Amino acid sequence: MKRYIIGITGASGSVLAKRLLSYLSDTEAELHIIATDMGKKVFEFETGIPWTQFLSTINQNKAEICSYDNNDMFASVASGSFVTDAMMIVPCSMATAAKIATGTGGNLLCRAADVCLKEKTKLVISPREAPLNSIHLKNLLTLSENGSMILPPVPMFYAKSEDYNDLMDGIVGRILKSAGIENNLYTEWRG
Ligand SMILES: Cc1cc2nc3c(=O)[nH]c(=O)nc-3n(C[C@H](O)[C@H](O)[C@H](O)COP(=O)(O)O)c2cc1C
Repeated sequence: MKRYIIGITGASGSVLAKRLLSYLSDTEAELHIIATDMGKKVFEFETGIPWTQFLSTINQNKAEICSYDNNDMFASVASGSFVTDAMMIVPCSMATAAKIATGTGGNLLCRAADVCLKEKTKLVISPREAPLNSIHLKNLLTLSENGSMILPPVPMFYAKSEDYNDLMDGIVGRILKSAGIENNLYTEWRG
């Protein structure tokens, strides 16, 4: 069974985390979920759904779900000996991107990302901020140079859809694909 880590931070874009987790929870996979304190708060603010209620809902689907306290450094995902297939951080705040880029972590989400980088496990980061200052850009460059995929939540405008959910699915589909997960959330361009 595939094993994925999903990190959720306090950047705007909770709808993407919601869609990604809903999609993955309907697959035969092990999902290891780490939300920061601000990740939970922004999720609740933007979706109107209490975080724990959302977790209980997706827990009823096919996937095996483990959700962690972001301070729990004893968690399995804090160790490189616990092999995973990919980690996705959706959405990723500039604060978390900075902590991972500088190795100053201090919480489980950052530690799990650090483990992915050292073990050369796929790490897909969807950073959300606008505009980006030079500090943000340098941190994202460092993360890219160290093997992570930087995939900003940019809609596929060329799909010419006016449907918000389609546009969000396109972004989530690209994130999943970058993590090595085939999906049908978007249609590939055939020229
Ligand atoms: C409604 C809301 C939206 C936010 N959007 C962003 C954002 O898009 N990008 C960002 O870097 N920070 C954003 N922030 C600020 C982060 O939540 C803040 O930097 C926080 O310390 C991030 O912590 P975390 O990385 O541990 O989740 C937002 C905060 C709020 C309340």
